[in-house]
Amino acid sequence: MRPIACIEDLRILAERRVPRMFYDYADSGSWTEQTYRENESDFARIRLRQKVAVNMEGRTTEATIIGRKVAMPVAIAPTGLTGMQHADGEILAARAAEKFGIPFTLSTMSICSIEDVAEATNTPFWFQLYVMRDREFIYRLIDRAKAAECEALVLTLDLQVLGQRHKDVRNGLSAPPKLTVRNMLNMATKPRWCMGMLGTKRREFRNIVGHVSNVDDMGTLAEWTHSQFDPRLSWDDVKWIKDRWGGKLIIKGINDPDDAEKAVESGADAIIVSNHGGRQLDGALSSIAMLPEIVERVGDRIEVHFDGGIRSGQDVLKAVALGAKGTYIGRAFLYGLGAMGEEGVTKVLEIIHKELETTMALCGRTNIADIDRSNLILPNERTDIFA
Ligand code: GLV
Repeated sequence: MRPIACIEDLRILAERRVPRMFYDYADSGSWTEQTYRENESDFARIRLRQKVAVNMEGRTTEATIIGRKVAMPVAIAPTGLTGMQHADGEILAARAAEKFGIPFTLSTMSICSIEDVAEATNTPFWFQLYVMRDREFIYRLIDRAKAAECEALVLTLDLQVLGQRHKDVRNGLSAPPKLTVRNMLNMATKPRWCMGMLGTKRREFRNIVGHVSNVDDMGTLAEWTHSQFDPRLSWDDVKWIKDRWGGKLIIKGINDPDDAEKAVESGADAIIVSNHGGRQLDGALSSIAMLPEIVERVGDRIEVHFDGGIRSGQDVLKAVALGAKGTYIGRAFLYGLGAMGEEGVTKVLEIIHKELETTMALCGRTNIADIDRSNLILPNERTDIFA
C-alpha cells in the first residue's frame, strides 16, 4: 500500500474497499451535482496571503466551539449510514474524535444507535435530529439523546424531502443491502468489508428499527424519507424541540441570511451554514460562497459554523478566516473510515490538523484565533494579471 499523504489518497482507498452502493452514497450530490462540485471548487478560488520572517514557534489550533475546548475548530459531521462504510463505523469515528479532542455528531439515520455510541465512548457526543411525522417517536428520540448525555442537539432543517441522487436510484441503495446478484458480486470483491459486517450485529438503522411501532422494513432510504419525514416542519417546531431538549441547540442547513436571522430569533446557540454537502438543492450557491454574507448578518449574535467541501486543513483555515467558529467534515472522515476504519479517521484528523497548522505558519500566524480575512485574497480582490 502506498503511503497516505492526503485526504484524496484515503478517498481512492475507500473507493476500492467499500461496496459500490455505499461509496456512491457518500460521494454524490443531487441531480447535476453542481452544488456538490462547487462546494469544493469555490474553496480553490480563495487564495492565501504568504507572510515571511514571523516567529512561528508555539503554534496552536485550539479553539472553543459552543463552550467546548477542542483541539482544532473541526467536528465530525452527522452522516447517514456511516456504519455501512465500515462495520460499527459510528463507534469507530466517535472514538477517533474523542481521542483527538474534537466533537463527534451522530446522525438520526445512523447504523449504530445513540445507546451503542454512548456505551463505547466517554466524552459526550452531539446528536443530529431529523423530524418525522411520528411525534411520539421524536419525543422519545430527544429523550434518548438526553439520557445518553449528548452535549448538543443538531437540528437539520434542509432535508424534509430528499433531493434525488441519481446513483442511489440506480444502485437501489438500502441498509442492509439487498442480496441481489449484482450486490453479491460487488461485495465479493470487498473481503475486509464483508468480514467486518459478519463480525457485528449492527447492520440496520438502529436508532429507528425496534423504536417505531409501524415500521419493520425500512425499504430504501428514499421511500422511507418520503413516508416518514415531516414535510410540515416549521420554525414553530423549532420552539418545542428546543424546549423539550433543554440543552445546546445547533441549527443545520442555513444557506440564506434571512433564514439565519430566524435561527437567531429561535434562540439557538449556533447555526451551520450548509447545503447538505450539495445533496439537496442542486443549484444552490456553495456554502463557502454564502458564509461571508451570513456572518456579516448574524455573526455578532450567534456562533456561525460551516460545512461543505472541506477536504484539507487549508479549507478549514479559509472558512475560519471568513468567520466560521467551527467547521464540520463529512465525506473527508467517511473516506478515512471506509479505507481503514478507526485508524483511517485518526489519519484524516492528523492530516487536516497538520495542514492547518503548517498553513497557519506560512500565513504568518501562530494562533488560530488570529486568523482573519487579511490572510485571504478573495476572487474579487485579485488583480488577475492573466485575465
Ligand atoms: C442524509 O442525510 C443524506 O444526505 O443522505
